[in-house]
Amino acid sequence: MELARKGPGEGSLPPRARLNSSAPRQSLNGTWEFRLDEGEWTTIPVPSHWVLEGHGKPAYTNVRYPFAIDPPHPPDENPIGDYRLTFDAAEDFRDGAVLRFDGIESAAEIRFNGQLLGTTRGSRLTHEFAVEPRATGNVLEVRVAQFSDASYLEDQDMWWLPGIFRDVDLVATPAGGLRDVFAVADFDPGSGTGTLTVRTSAQARLRIPELAVDQTVHDSVVAVGTVQPWSPETPRLYAATVSTDAEEISLRLGFRRIEVCGAVLEFNGNPIQFRGVNRHEHHPERGRVVSPEDTRAELELMKRHNVNAVRTSHYPPAPGFLDLTDELGFYVVLECDLETHGFVEVGWRDNPSDDPEWESAYLDRMRRTVHRDKNHASVVVWSLGNEAGTGTNLEAMAAWTRAFDPSRLIHYEHDWASTYVDLYSRMYASHDEVERIGEEVLSPAPFGATPAELHRRELPFIQCEYAHAMGNGPGGLEEYQDLFDRYPRLAGGFIWEWVEHALAVTGSDGKRRMYYGGDFGEDIHDGNFVTDGLVSADREVRPGLTALAHWFSPVRIEVTASTVRIRNRYDHVDLGHLTFRWRTGDAGGVLSVPRATPGRTVEVPLPPEASGPWVTVEAVADAEHVIGSGQFTRFAPTGRPAPTTLPTREAFDPVSMRLRTLGGLTLDGPLVSLWRAPTDNDRYPGWDEPGLPPYAERWTEAGIDRLRTRLVSAGEVDGALRTVHRSTPPGRDFGVDSEFRWHQVSPDALLLDVVVTPRGVWPVEWARLGLDLVLPGAPAGLDWLGLGPGPAYPDLAAGVRYGTFHAEADELYTPYVRPQESGARRGVRTATVATSAGELRVTVLGDDEIAVTVSPWSRALIASTLHHHDLVADGRTYVSLDLAQSGVGTAACGPGVLPRYRLPARPARISLLLEANPA
Ligand code: GAL
Repeated sequence: MELARKGPGEGSLPPRARLNSSAPRQSLNGTWEFRLDEGEWTTIPVPSHWVLEGHGKPAYTNVRYPFAIDPPHPPDENPIGDYRLTFDAAEDFRDGAVLRFDGIESAAEIRFNGQLLGTTRGSRLTHEFAVEPRATGNVLEVRVAQFSDASYLEDQDMWWLPGIFRDVDLVATPAGGLRDVFAVADFDPGSGTGTLTVRTSAQARLRIPELAVDQTVHDSVVAVGTVQPWSPETPRLYAATVSTDAEEISLRLGFRRIEVCGAVLEFNGNPIQFRGVNRHEHHPERGRVVSPEDTRAELELMKRHNVNAVRTSHYPPAPGFLDLTDELGFYVVLECDLETHGFVEVGWRDNPSDDPEWESAYLDRMRRTVHRDKNHASVVVWSLGNEAGTGTNLEAMAAWTRAFDPSRLIHYEHDWASTYVDLYSRMYASHDEVERIGEEVLSPAPFGATPAELHRRELPFIQCEYAHAMGNGPGGLEEYQDLFDRYPRLAGGFIWEWVEHALAVTGSDGKRRMYYGGDFGEDIHDGNFVTDGLVSADREVRPGLTALAHWFSPVRIEVTASTVRIRNRYDHVDLGHLTFRWRTGDAGGVLSVPRATPGRTVEVPLPPEASGPWVTVEAVADAEHVIGSGQFTRFAPTGRPAPTTLPTREAFDPVSMRLRTLGGLTLDGPLVSLWRAPTDNDRYPGWDEPGLPPYAERWTEAGIDRLRTRLVSAGEVDGALRTVHRSTPPGRDFGVDSEFRWHQVSPDALLLDVVVTPRGVWPVEWARLGLDLVLPGAPAGLDWLGLGPGPAYPDLAAGVRYGTFHAEADELYTPYVRPQESGARRGVRTATVATSAGELRVTVLGDDEIAVTVSPWSRALIASTLHHHDLVADGRTYVSLDLAQSGVGTAACGPGVLPRYRLPARPARISLLLEANPA
């Protein structure tokens, strides 16, 4: 098997559209014979990846190739899988058929009934081979190499997962049928009319019943009159057929137009914003084999979170995906299967993107990408690939694409000069830089600007990746969205990324564990960088997605004491389809809101009954989908109970004077604490602070993970027990002093006034400023009045609202694959922490609020454990009452915590009422 060529595969048919045809199709999916490296024959399901079926192991790398950079040669250690299927074929396939492979990683040699048909290159691209099947006993043999020359072009940040992992079909190609159809349905926003440009491989009859079109076409332009346009907000599709006597092709036409007008991205004549996500295909057990049902569920989950765009990072998805995005309504940036990022490690030397010998391979990839999906309304941008450096082969791809399909825009991020693309695109640009890019086009070009520069300044800007959603985060969403809303040039972007790629392994003990890079014994890998999604591999919503849904919401609702201001942030529709509900306590009702066209803000009065401590207004679509909400609060300060007596000293530890018992509940604390179990973002250096170590390291260097606390004094002052404690990192002389004044309010209740004062010169900001307590018994739940229902951090606090909430014990943390700080509930005014041993109720006095974190694990344990499934609870409950917290940022890939969300050393005070209720 020849695996070291720079060209495309050989012997397959020219690429064409995926057609929904009346011609028969026979799925060849199922159980195939299989052997690895010429071992024993066994069986395997198709589609699947052999490394997830017990043959070898998966491996994860981000940038670096797991083999030598010696193009086009694959390594000698190259697993080879042989597949064999014997099948019968009905009569229908005997006057013309093709074998169709939708995905084989990474290179295959196909034999049919003993004859070599050809080879494939392009793991996520469709290849078809002409065959003449017999009635019975056809033998299809596919030899697959895990690595090949193609692997140099497929260095995406993901698992290496070889095998036949997408559908295999036998498709009839009847004589006199249609080999290909290319239909572009254009919408003219000026006249409201549609035009269909249709090219068919043979003369055919076009019918669009709803538009009364019935005519002959071949290479034709058909004016169809007034149409309802397609958009993500109005995914209107018209059923059409193109037929000959031998075959009928069904199309779903969406009339729409995407264009660049003066550096603004417009769709159907309206300026638009991509509120998008990057989507890899991933299933925790099956890898890149994702069923149509799972795909639909995933897209519906995106819709529910106000996502309107998907970049298919970094390859064309399984073909059925586009049927769903047409139907449900998404802008799709469809990306070619191309990435050569590993060449960055050698200064881009020999990068295939700039080597003419690879040109035909590049062009073949782009043609296969474009042809297959060219009839989908949702595909609005073609992307040449990801992180493949720069070079003439990329330019050739762009030139071919532009000539073939001028109806869509061309995207490629890595060439910042942007000479052959229609969008200026970047990834992880900081807020400041995005702002400069937004402003750039508002002033004349500088004197002497090059033609390339002038071209770039005419382009709308997108962030094809931003807000890296790894672990607890991403912070900074609000500030990006503000910029996108402020500058017309900024057309939004795509969060990195939708889904975490953890692989689930069920052990002999029956326990299912989530694995990441290195867990399969890889000697080169990038650890948990593969788990960086808005949803877990099981599609559980991470807090970042809840926050994102707020900033992506197509309505902004601001509630004041007497009015509600609503801004329509849709691109195409008015507010007529939404119901606006208000609620306060048990009262509630529906507001009458004018329809308001896109971009307009309307103001309506709030009924006088809406007068509780918090009033919530929600915009609801389809009876239950909350699109957006706003809230007004007017909390009265919480009064101070009259102190009764001095607390008994017996309630305190005689040496440390830490509280040991309250109303029969044993406890330990409170103790000042400044650290958090580092998040993924804390473990990487922020791009905005080049040269500085990550916060996790700065914190350990300062020693705030191991504060030592000494009792300075204890005595009676003004009827209270006053204790002063000094907390200092080991071997350091800076720290914080905390003064506690205790009053007994009742046998079960203590009033605590806290004053915290930093001392000395602090070399680093704090992670939080908290009072930590350890309670006996395992956590049993939390009830609180504050923001909820989910967790929040200062820069990740959208999508939560004030109310009274309850969380079960297992809802108090987020099970990130690699353990880290999580679960804080913010804006808390009262909270009751329940454990198996009793309850502790905390009331914040005055106007203050705290954040409450309740965990079955200590921070030290969380920080030193590498997988969620390895966390072992010790039967106690760790409670933090935080007076302040640092934001989370996105330093894992991008800027760190923005200055306004950092927590420099600072004094603080708070008054709390602690009430115990032992079980
Ligand atoms: C980008 C890349 C993505 C992913 C991301 C980090 O550079 O395009 O594929 O690696 O960084 O998670």
